[in-house]
Amino acid sequence: MGAGPSPGGLVTEISAAGGVAEAAGEVLAVPVFAERAWGPGADWAVEALGEPLDRYLEGVSFAGKRDQVVVLPTRGAIPFDSLLLVGMGDETDAEGVRRAAGWVGRHTTRRADVGTTLHLLEVAEAARAVAEGFLLGQYRFSKYRSEPEEVATERLRLFGGDAARVGAQAARGTEVAEAVALARDLVNEPAAGKPPATLAALAEGLADDPRIRVKVHDESDIIEGGFGGLAGVAAGAHVPPRLVEVWYEPAGAGALLALVGKGVVFDSGGLSLKKPDAMESMKTDMAGAAAVLAAVKAIAGLDLPVRVLAITPLTENMPGGGAIRPGDVVRARNGKTIEVLNTDAEGRLLLADGLSLAAEAAPDLIVDLATLTGACRVALGDKIAGVWSNDAAALGRLEAAATRAGERVWPMPLPDDYRSNIDSDIADMKNTGGRHGAAINAALLLREFVGDVPWVHLDVAGPARWPESEHYQSKGGSGFGVRTLVALAEDLAEGR
Ligand code: BES
Ligand code: MN
Ligand code: ZN
Repeated sequence: MGAGPSPGGLVTEISAAGGVAEAAGEVLAVPVFAERAWGPGADWAVEALGEPLDRYLEGVSFAGKRDQVVVLPTRGAIPFDSLLLVGMGDETDAEGVRRAAGWVGRHTTRRADVGTTLHLLEVAEAARAVAEGFLLGQYRFSKYRSEPEEVATERLRLFGGDAARVGAQAARGTEVAEAVALARDLVNEPAAGKPPATLAALAEGLADDPRIRVKVHDESDIIEGGFGGLAGVAAGAHVPPRLVEVWYEPAGAGALLALVGKGVVFDSGGLSLKKPDAMESMKTDMAGAAAVLAAVKAIAGLDLPVRVLAITPLTENMPGGGAIRPGDVVRARNGKTIEVLNTDAEGRLLLADGLSLAAEAAPDLIVDLATLTGACRVALGDKIAGVWSNDAAALGRLEAAATRAGERVWPMPLPDDYRSNIDSDIADMKNTGGRHGAAINAALLLREFVGDVPWVHLDVAGPARWPESEHYQSKGGSGFGVRTLVALAEDLAEGR
């Protein structure tokens, strides 16, 4: 892909190994609960290190709280060079294990050989959470640094437990982590390196798998196909738009899940130009598209027996001479018209087309992901996505999947009496509804394009870009949504 994004390259081998008491290696990472209650593996190591350890931990005030980490030289008391204690707090769950493993990954990037017992904690799919957290904790985006910070880790061994089960779970976690890393890479990539045609070519690369078919609509297909929202936003850009459809259809699968991701490779605001500060992070505006493409890759990699259609309308939002003007009207794929009063409310215009196309496939469920509104970020902050739905059962499914995946979402309303906020004087609707409830007004517009299909909308304007490096997150593109979509596909595949 030349100057384009590099694929997520997390190279550490993760494998199941025998019991920790028979093991040896470079670093051993073990869990510790609040007030220094030793978790699995920690009990053994601490016994071997003896009494001075407690005094030392007192001195560095390590109590086993969440997010606490301490690394100790073992001086030969156990056959590992270092012992890494990671705090778990009072009790833990899969997300606690994922975060702890993230801290371990973060603190061991200079070690070739790492071992852990974190997967022995009694939570569902602990080994998968360890693999996800560890690999993502080691994620770096360094392609533009002349002196990249190399990750030296070659292998992570999981000591103890049923090797077959642990190995299978770790493999699933690795698949998911690689997809999240791909989404992060795509979001972190500067806009100049990811024009729509480049992202479409990346999507076409997914079709190496015979169960995957990719259809790329180019600019003339977009105009002739009636995708007037996407064409309208693209009118001011030099780079031509693309509309990508990725179909994953494994033999014998039943349910069809449609995913739609906002793919604005850079959002200048168009003629309703943003202020410089607000533009700084607008290469992130294709995070929804990145997440749905990465999710299909993982869903196929996990061989999940569920059909998936991923749709990404891709364009840049620029104020070129041909740009759409405030007051212009676009007609979306389903025939409805939208008066464009603010060219910076562009996401809903291209999603109108993407959702219409998704609804045409009559899927069992549509989920869209979009960095849609600053208002959602104001409401929920940088780490929680807003979620809207026209179907209570679908909302419940999405929330359950997000919880299992360790991604936080919060339900928001679709009040019918707010629909008048987007009434237009001349068209079926207008693309702004004022500052009050702006994230809701956007969701109400999207609802006009899904027909009767159960639909869930995720506004990821906050969490698409993580504000700080911590546990398994790194500052910048987060890949938010990939894990939830994979979990949702797993649930659908299992008839949940
Ligand atoms: N891409 C932005 C939303 C956004 C803002 C995402 C901040 C991430 C961080 C979107 O296209 C936008 O500009 N929305 C406007 C809508 C308004 C003009 C109705 C907004 O939220 O200000
Ligand atoms: Mn915008
Ligand atoms: Zn935008």
